[in-house]
This record gives sequence, structure tokens and C-alpha cells, in this order.
Amino acid sequence: MTSPQTGPAAVICGLGAVLPHRAVPNEELCAELDTTDEWIRTRTGIRERRIADAGVSTEDLAVAAATQALESSGTNDVHAVVLATTTPDHLMPATAPSVAARLGLTGVAAFDVAAVCTGFVYALAAAAGLITTQTARTVLVVGADRMSQLPAADDRTTRPLFADGAGAVVLRSGTATEPGALGPMVLGSDGAHRDLLIVPHGGHMKMQGPNLFRHAVDRMSAVTRQAVQLAGWRLADVDRIVPHQANARITAAVGRHLTIDADRRVQNIEYVGNTGAASIPLALAQASAGGTLRPGHRVCLTAFGAGLTWGATTVTWPDLKPAAHPHHDTAMERT
Ligand code: ACO
Repeated sequence: MTSPQTGPAAVICGLGAVLPHRAVPNEELCAELDTTDEWIRTRTGIRERRIADAGVSTEDLAVAAATQALESSGTNDVHAVVLATTTPDHLMPATAPSVAARLGLTGVAAFDVAAVCTGFVYALAAAAGLITTQTARTVLVVGADRMSQLPAADDRTTRPLFADGAGAVVLRSGTATEPGALGPMVLGSDGAHRDLLIVPHGGHMKMQGPNLFRHAVDRMSAVTRQAVQLAGWRLADVDRIVPHQANARITAAVGRHLTIDADRRVQNIEYVGNTGAASIPLALAQASAGGTLRPGHRVCLTAFGAGLTWGATTVTWPDLKPAAHPHHDTAMERT
């Protein structure tokens, strides 16, 4: 599905992210699972991941990241909250209204988006739609997940991959030509392959790794090409690709398909693992704070997840202010 941009555009004007304090290195998993640090590093690119304490909810992570993003944007005048998550705190209601209420935004539109690891890109598209239809002038978009709770305790294939975190952006109404304006969106799905990565009712995550790997590489490569083309760019024009951090080998394979070398690929999976819907905004926040992502860079955000789902969009990176105050909490920290 593609959605050409008309009328006002959605412009990124704030960014924030948080991670749980507790870092779990591969060595710690090796004590519980039949695996090795070397296997995990070479097959996935992950050295350690952050795991939320039992008392920390998806809502807590989302509120902390959103607070950072709102501070960075310099506004609290938000008219909608869109939360991408695979791990809502309740089957019903959605988590977004609670997040909005905790932020003092009672009364605004608030809903969850469930597209697993593509959730953040789907949520950007939904939020951009609210802005272009003039339903809202400013929208808070959060990706927050506690993916670590989904694998079975003894599953050596999935436990090393999945982790916890949250990231958020603030979108405001603006014009398509200004820095920060989201380009055309490309979204897709294929439910025929839902069994490749699934959490059955009352059960634990089941993953067909090698098959999922192939779909991830094919879909992320294709959707990146489409989004870049719709933006009127060539792949050679892209300064940074910010892929969902599924596996370092998937990102490298996508880079090879698109001839986008490692210098142009934002990667932070080594120390955060696969954080589901939080992955892209976390990568953006860390790359922006670390100077890998700079104002004026032509950026493509590209994602793939269970469903199957996939999506991509483009943006010329804006000059954002970091949040004034680091997040102080015993359970999590600003990235
Ligand atoms: N330690 C040691 N051995 C392991 C481990 C482990 N942690 N996990 C699996 N193995 C074993 C398997 O049991 C298998 O053994 P066998 O040959 O005796 O049966 C062997 O390693 C090879 O297993 P494969 O699954 O074929 O290994 P592969 O090289 O494909 O790597 C991996 C597995 C890392 C899961 C890979 O397939 C992958 O990354 N797939 C995509 C996963 C992914 O990205 N998921 C998320 C995407 S979507 C989203 O983000 C929601």
C-alpha cells in the first residue's frame, strides 16, 4: 500500500528513548541456556541486551520515552498519542490512553498499533494520517516493548534475540519540503506466513528462524527501494538507513542487496538486542546523540516484523534539541 503526500505534512520535532538499567550480557544467558557467547555474537551480532525488572510495565517504558521526546520538542500541546507495541499491559483496554493520562494528556485521541517489529513505522503512518487529515496538529508516537517476556525460559533460539526498551517522536503539522517532514510511506503485510513468528494464546514465542531471515532480507530490501523511489531519491542519495534491529546479519544482507555499506547503516543491536516496536526510535535516538545521524542527512527508516508486516519511509533529518533533563528513575535510563 502506498500513500502519496498531500496537504500538510507530518514533521518530526522531538525525539527521546529509554532503556531499562539492567544489562544482560551473553555470558549471563549461557548460564541458563545451552548456548555460547560466540554463537550469539556471530549469528545475531548481539553482545548484551537490556531487560526490564518485573515491576516495569510497557506503559512505564512508554511514558519515560515520551517524556524525553516531549521535552526535546519543547511542547506539551499534543492532540493524539499513538503507541506501537506488541506487549500491551492488558488485552483490553489499549495502553495508549493510560500513557496519555500519565503525561497529563487526558482527553486526547489515544490508541495502540499492533504490527510487531514494523509497529513504529505503521504508527508513524497512522500519526501522519491524523496530521494530513487535520484531525490533530501534533501527535506523540511511541514504540515501547517488553519483548523479553515472550520467549520460553528455555528457548535458546529466541531468548538471546529479544529485549526491552522504548523510543518516541513528536510529529507536528508542517510542510513537505522542510527538514523532518516524513516522506511517502510504504506499508505491507502477508498473513499467510504468520506461523514464522507467533505467540499462540497462552503460550510462548515460536520462531522459524532461517525462513524468517529470508523474508526479512527480501522485504526490507524491497520496501526500502520503494520508499526511496517514492521520495524521488536514488539509493546512492541515502546517507543513513535506519533498519529495524532484528539481527545484525539481516541488516548486513539488506545493505549488500541495496549496496549500502556499513558506514551508512545505523546499527545498535550489539548492546540493545531486538526491542520490537522500540527498535527504530531507539536507534534514531542513539545515532542522533552519538553524532552518526546529523541534521541534513537523508534517512530511510525500514522495518520488518511478524505478521508478516513491513514498512518504510524517508526523512531529511532535522536539527532536534536533546531533552533538557536526563530521565532519572531507578528502573530505566535515557539512552
Ligand atoms: N546457541 C547455540 N545453538 C543454537 C542457538 C543458540 N542460541 N539457537 C539455535 N541454535 C542451533 C539450532 O538448534 C540449530 O541446531 P541443529 O542444526 O542441530 O538443528 C543450529 O543452531 C542452526 O540453527 P538455525 O536456526 O538454522 O540457525 P541460524 O544460523 O539461522 O540462526 C537465528 C538462527 C539467529 C534465529 C536466525 O535464523 C535469525 O536471525 N533469524 C531471523 C530472526 C529474526 O530476526 N527474528 C526477528 C525478526 S522479526 C521481528 O523482529 C519481530
